[in-house]
Amino acid sequence: MSASKRVAVVTGSNKGIGYAIVRGLCTQFQGDVILTARSEANGQEALKKLNAEGLKPVFHQLDITDGTSVQRMRDFLQKNYGGLDVLVNNAAIAYKSEIDKLQSEFSGTCEVENPPYGAQKIAATEPFSEQADVTMATNFWGTLNACKVLFPLLRPHARVVHVSSIAASMTAVKCSQELQTRFLDPELSMLKIEQLMNEFVESAKTGTHKANGWHDSAYGMSKIGVNLMAFVQQRELNADCRPDIVVNSCCPGDVATDMTSCIGMKTIDEGADTPLYLAMLPANTTSPRGHFVVEREIQNIL
Ligand SMILES: NC(=O)c1ccc[n+]([C@@H]2O[C@H](COP(=O)([O-])OP(=O)(O)OC[C@H]3O[C@@H](n4cnc5c(N)ncnc54)[C@H](OP(=O)(O)O)[C@@H]3O)[C@@H](O)[C@H]2O)c1
Repeated sequence: MSASKRVAVVTGSNKGIGYAIVRGLCTQFQGDVILTARSEANGQEALKKLNAEGLKPVFHQLDITDGTSVQRMRDFLQKNYGGLDVLVNNAAIAYKSEIDKLQSEFSGTCEVENPPYGAQKIAATEPFSEQADVTMATNFWGTLNACKVLFPLLRPHARVVHVSSIAASMTAVKCSQELQTRFLDPELSMLKIEQLMNEFVESAKTGTHKANGWHDSAYGMSKIGVNLMAFVQQRELNADCRPDIVVNSCCPGDVATDMTSCIGMKTIDEGADTPLYLAMLPANTTSPRGHFVVEREIQNIL
């Protein structure tokens, strides 16, 4: 490793779409690719499988909900690379009941005959208040905190990709008009997004979220936060002295992974296509920048 060598980091990449993004970056990205996992054992296992394909990512532990783990990641990058060139925020969770609800809204999904991970459909029984809190803690706050700690390392021409979901748009259109107006506020700031996400969780805790205009998808709400985050971060980075840093969010499509109980139209490598396209956007890309992207095309968030 050398302090000026280029480096790409993918969060939650021991399995699923993140794993496939690492595999793709290993062949497309000029530099080291860091495969991260919250479990050291799962990360090492994934590393072994990629090594068997002749690919050589580097492993580093990372739990995006653990501030100390995120700081260790930053220190590792600073010491060994002196910066960061690609950050793919892929790590996320979803309660099974959420995904069942969403899959019933997708048309054309099908169950794979031989689930590659042996996953089973088990409906979540946790109360919605808990699901809202825990989902938001990983998908929104974990992603945001990782960005806050790692963004100072981004070098000119860095690419940031938030792996979000079309579930965000499906959820946003079911929220009240007043909330939709707040999502589309031209003066939107990170503080306002944080307030929105906090309000949703607080409403869920008191069982008043529907009465207050929110849709009852904690996963969808967390991904609205992620999409809005990309938009605001891009605006902030446009004013940064480091040129040409591009942030986008995207949906990988309907992918058969553990998250979806191995039900989905796409393989993990197909799901990795749009995240990889965004991670590899050429220098001085003018569009997409701060957008939500599906199948390599910009989509409205509402
Ligand atoms: N599959 C789909 O159809 C679909 C559709 C739309 C969007 N997405 C998005 O695509 C991304 C990848 O999903 P997937 O389907 O590949 O899911 P997955 O197979 O369940 O993989 C999720 C990954 O995130 C990791 N993770 C969870 N919490 C973490 C934390 N606190 N810190 C670090 N890593 C953490 C998991 O680690 P462990 O192994 O330790 O749990 C795992 O590596 C997610 O952002 C998801 O929302 C997926």
